[in-house]
Amino acid sequence: MIDKKKLNKFLKEKKIQSSINEISEQIELSIKKILDEKIKEIKNKKRIIANDNAKEHFLPIEVFSKEEIKSLPDWVKHNILKARVIGSSKRVIQTEDGKKYHIKNKLNDLSGAEWTFFLNSVITTRYSTNGKDSFAYHIRKIHPSPKPPQLMRQIIEFFTKEGEVVLDYFMGVGGTLLGASLCNRKAVGIDLNDKFIKAYTEANAYLKLKEQVAIEADSIEFLKNDIGGFLNKEEVSLILIDPPYGNMLSRPKTGEALKRGRDISPTPFSDSKLDLGNMIWNDFLRIFNQSILDSMKYLKNKGHIVIFIKDMQPKQKELNLLHTDIIRDLNTIDNLNYLGMKIWVDQSVNLYPYGYPFGFVSNQIHQYILIFQKVESGK
Ligand SMILES: C[S@@+](CC[C@H](N)C(=O)[O-])C[C@H]1O[C@@H](n2cnc3c(N)ncnc32)[C@H](O)[C@@H]1O
Repeated sequence: MIDKKKLNKFLKEKKIQSSINEISEQIELSIKKILDEKIKEIKNKKRIIANDNAKEHFLPIEVFSKEEIKSLPDWVKHNILKARVIGSSKRVIQTEDGKKYHIKNKLNDLSGAEWTFFLNSVITTRYSTNGKDSFAYHIRKIHPSPKPPQLMRQIIEFFTKEGEVVLDYFMGVGGTLLGASLCNRKAVGIDLNDKFIKAYTEANAYLKLKEQVAIEADSIEFLKNDIGGFLNKEEVSLILIDPPYGNMLSRPKTGEALKRGRDISPTPFSDSKLDLGNMIWNDFLRIFNQSILDSMKYLKNKGHIVIFIKDMQPKQKELNLLHTDIIRDLNTIDNLNYLGMKIWVDQSVNLYPYGYPFGFVSNQIHQYILIFQKVESGK
């Protein structure tokens, strides 16, 4: 025990009484704060335990039918015996690790937290182009703009359940098809260019993934007729496409490439007249819109169409906001609603001093991911 009298006498002699008073006040305040917090914490814990004890806990097998349990995603089914039903609506299953799944989720197999994570309007990535994480980029790089399979997988996992069908009728070297295989979905891809399809097959074999259906054809004709009978009506849950952006790649390059003495020759996907990448923007828009209309017969009701698109640089009075042209036109299609967009920021794109030293020219390292849904009235 501290002898206060002695201590005060000592402090007075040393003339440090006032500062000691201040310090002890501070210490008292801090201790009080810590104690208050601890008391609050204990009270909270007691309340949670009391609530938990008051509530009846149900096991999923007591609440749901065999059919309902059978339709659950594997990660829930495999843990069903240790899961419990939470909430008064008795619709949410919580597995032992705390993940939640809503029995009425008809869209995907994601937990509540994974669902929320996907709703972020921006996806920022820096995918590797070397090694295992590049998903055979060394084979896919023969294409001027291959999409990362991991990114396509994320989108597929939100808009489909395991085993459902995805269609990509501008498949290139198969970013979508590889993404679908990575999460056990079926996929059908179409591309005009045989060399891209071969690269997909090679990348797929290299990655030892399940091979998807890849068809060499002009999609515009194919979708009208379903030439090979590969697709049934209303079988597809998600149409995920990354169309050629007007004639962006088929024009000679300008700007930085020109200044640096690099090869400025165009990099079109092909020289075919059927290639949408070789069309002027208004022709592209007309034919692209028709392809969407024709593809909708394969899409199930409430299924989604997800489109990647990049704007071109504005030029004098031309805005070149390709993504708004597409939203405006597709939103006029009956039974197709625009739901919103995500912006993909690709941080592996190099930055160039475009316009330097004269004026502003943006480095566009983002693309738009536009989301539409087929909604048949009365269904
Ligand atoms: C932007 S790329 C798609 C890249 C793809 N997402 C990937 O991961 O490789 C567009 C593709 O559309 C294809 N294409 C253009 N017009 C077409 C048509 N009429 N029918 C089928 N494919 C076409 C091109 O050959 C090109 O590979």
